[in-house]
Amino acid sequence: MYINIYFSGIFGYVNYLVERTRGEIVNTMLDGMQRLEYRGYDSAGIAIDGDKPNEVLLFKEVGKVAALRKLYENSDTDNKKVFNTHVGIAHTRWATHGQPSPINAHPHRSDPTNEFVVVHNGIITNYREIRALLEGKHFVFETETDTECIAKLAKYVYDLNKHRDLDFTELTKLVLMELQGAYGLLMKSVHYPNEVIATRKGSPLLIGVKTEKKLKVDFVDVEFPEFAEITVDSPMETSNGLLALPQSNGLSNGSLLVPMGDNDLRRSQSRAFVSDDGIPMQIEFFLASDPSAVVEHTKKVLYLMDDDIAHIYDGELHIHRIRREDGQPTIRSIQTLEMELNEIMKGNFDHFMQKEIFEQPDSIINTMRGRVDFEKKTVTLGGLSSYLQTIRRCRRIIMVACGTSYHSCMATRAIFEELSEIPITVELASDFLDRRSPVFRDDTCVFVSQSGETADTMLALQYCIERGALTVGIVNSVGSSISRQTNCGVHINAGPEIGVASTKAYTSQYVALVMMALSLSDDRISKQARRHSIIDGLSKISKQVEEVLALNDRIRAMAETDLINQKSLLLLGRGYQHATALEGALKIKEISYMHSEGVLAGELKHGVLALVDENLPIIVLATHDSLFPKVMSAVEQVIARSGNPILLCNKGENALSKLHKTYRTLEVPATVDCLQGLLNVIPLQLMSYWLAVKKGFDVDFPRNLAKAVTVE
Ligand code: G6P
Repeated sequence: MYINIYFSGIFGYVNYLVERTRGEIVNTMLDGMQRLEYRGYDSAGIAIDGDKPNEVLLFKEVGKVAALRKLYENSDTDNKKVFNTHVGIAHTRWATHGQPSPINAHPHRSDPTNEFVVVHNGIITNYREIRALLEGKHFVFETETDTECIAKLAKYVYDLNKHRDLDFTELTKLVLMELQGAYGLLMKSVHYPNEVIATRKGSPLLIGVKTEKKLKVDFVDVEFPEFAEITVDSPMETSNGLLALPQSNGLSNGSLLVPMGDNDLRRSQSRAFVSDDGIPMQIEFFLASDPSAVVEHTKKVLYLMDDDIAHIYDGELHIHRIRREDGQPTIRSIQTLEMELNEIMKGNFDHFMQKEIFEQPDSIINTMRGRVDFEKKTVTLGGLSSYLQTIRRCRRIIMVACGTSYHSCMATRAIFEELSEIPITVELASDFLDRRSPVFRDDTCVFVSQSGETADTMLALQYCIERGALTVGIVNSVGSSISRQTNCGVHINAGPEIGVASTKAYTSQYVALVMMALSLSDDRISKQARRHSIIDGLSKISKQVEEVLALNDRIRAMAETDLINQKSLLLLGRGYQHATALEGALKIKEISYMHSEGVLAGELKHGVLALVDENLPIIVLATHDSLFPKVMSAVEQVIARSGNPILLCNKGENALSKLHKTYRTLEVPATVDCLQGLLNVIPLQLMSYWLAVKKGFDVDFPRNLAKAVTVE
């Protein structure tokens, strides 16, 4: 049996008193799923109502949403049937193990008549136990997934409690008490027609709200239950039908806390959805794991918190909690999204990645906007200002990230050390956790993440919170888990990044981290000259990025003629350019599937030199800084072994002039040493892009990779 790990996308659509044909409903769902395509997925599915009462139809297909659309269109489903009120749920699935297949795609169901259907992101870690128990109760499992156990458990609990007339929230609470692991999920059932449950733990979920009339208030009250304690009759099955699994969340010393009767729960009505005249409001709800699927319909969204159970019925959104916790917020606000749909569209570019590479002159400016005053030479980071003193006094700064975000930390570590004079360590989140590295109250931990949802980075954040460290987020996605759970931070404001290979987020993280280092040192006279030169460098950087982008045609030609048929590519750099070499190599691997390695030039003689011959392509990051003579000595070592390097160097570099004739160069403008990586990485982004395009690969959705890795 395989464990399926999901990176996937969730979408749900509810129309209440808004007439929609089935065709319109399905289109809304498929379009929503298409907006989530950038997360990477291998199969897709939807659940909608059928023609008969109590009938739910499932459509599931391997491949892109377009394939699912075809499957649906080829079915004889009546597209014209009108629904005044309807609930549809949808999912794009990405699995790391197990073959993608229609049966393994979501929604998963409780039984062949689809009584309960579920879409789910995350992983249920105790699904084997639940499955074994339910198989003992004659449930027949049809997939290899963990999600199926949720749908079957719901049916099991429902059947056992028929006499109690549970409402959908109560039923969900009983189900969730048995689940361990992470989830964002939607559930729909023939027993609760036109109702949907949305709940999350460790996996993002938000609800968009669209009404003709203005909502009365911009928040939803959280509803807490009264609890009754009942005695557990048997360890495996309680009097109210719960499974009471080993380590069950609901089980406590032989007694079980269960919510009281359903009437109590239905009594309160959220103030946002009450109309003045008492007439029910026409309303549509869009549920999604990501705002990009919702923004074209509405900008009013509510982010669920972990353990929230959202229950939508009769045009109302109710948010319930299993337990009353002291100090927890009692409302969830309905926010207005700032993101425009055209921001997440490709524009005139062939691929999102290409668009994002070319957006960098603007995205870098957006990162600095309102923060850097180039005349007064000051940097103001509103999200950090009240914490700067604490950070300055901390005993060390630990930067934690994954993938490209890790490289942005590597790229800025030296300037952090130089300006702040605080010891800095840079950690890959998974390794940091594996080592259970010591963290103390007087540490500052900086979490860098484009998505703000990367599971390893999130777990590292929890780890540091538990140890009392100050936590700082450097995040692109506003409202993401990391930006909400850190003490303070900086949004990099790069705009939505859709290409799986991160480009503009890297340069904006880089700039945000440099700004943070500048802020930390703005009380030091001794650093003033250096700070001023960096701020001057930042003032010119956007124009210089534009100049580098002008190398596009040359790089395309180089990719096509010199590199496309190579099996492997080395990138050499040292000092500030070590991170550039690592990031360039990652870009090339990710989307062109060519083996590529970023090597610290100082380490060349300790092993890598053995690979060098006249065939192996080597790009050397040879822009001018204090380490330039050492880099040139590496170049000479390569040349001495008949190597044929491509030199990425500054314009008009004298020391290289004698090489110009025989050796290929890519010339970039010069800036301050600690900013040079911003310019040097761009030719490498372009090179990876053109290699992938020339090889005919799916640039925006590389095989086996996902944009947001929301599981460990
Ligand atoms: C995935 C993406 C990478 C990204 C990494 C960290 O692997 O494919 O592009 O760098 O996750 O993501 P984060 O959202 O935390 O920056």
